[in-house]
Amino acid sequence: TYEKLWLVGSMVLIVGFIVTITYGSVGLGISMIDDEDENVAPTELNDDERFGEPRVEQVGDDEYAAYVVAQTFVFQPDPIEVPANSEVTFHVTSRDVIHGFYVPGTNLNAMAIPGQVAEMSVEFDEPGEYGLICHEYCGSAHHDMEGLIVAQ
Ligand code: CUA
Repeated sequence: TYEKLWLVGSMVLIVGFIVTITYGSVGLGISMIDDEDENVAPTELNDDERFGEPRVEQVGDDEYAAYVVAQTFVFQPDPIEVPANSEVTFHVTSRDVIHGFYVPGTNLNAMAIPGQVAEMSVEFDEPGEYGLICHEYCGSAHHDMEGLIVAQ
């Protein structure tokens, strides 16, 4: 019966780990995609159907995708225009070095890493302008690297 206890105990641990990992990434609203099809190298960005033309696109009823490219020292598109009261999923990558992607007052907070795509969703309840800040040191004009999200 000790063996059964061990078995049950390890099952509980495994399920617990899975729940923790799943909840952790959902709770942060950020998921790094490891799948190679989703990631894209900086040299491939211009030919990528998502990032070749950074933009906001409707992908469902009240659902939008924003494809954002960070590069020294700008964010594209600029500004990022999104509808208010809709779910917007941001897909963020970098063309050169690591940048930050941070919108104070929202859950939008990620690193823009070359070769990786960060994803996070948000709904802007209040129409308005939201400042976008690079909060990872990226070079001489890091402190001036800002973008703008316009929700309307
Ligand atoms: Cu880009 Cu700091």
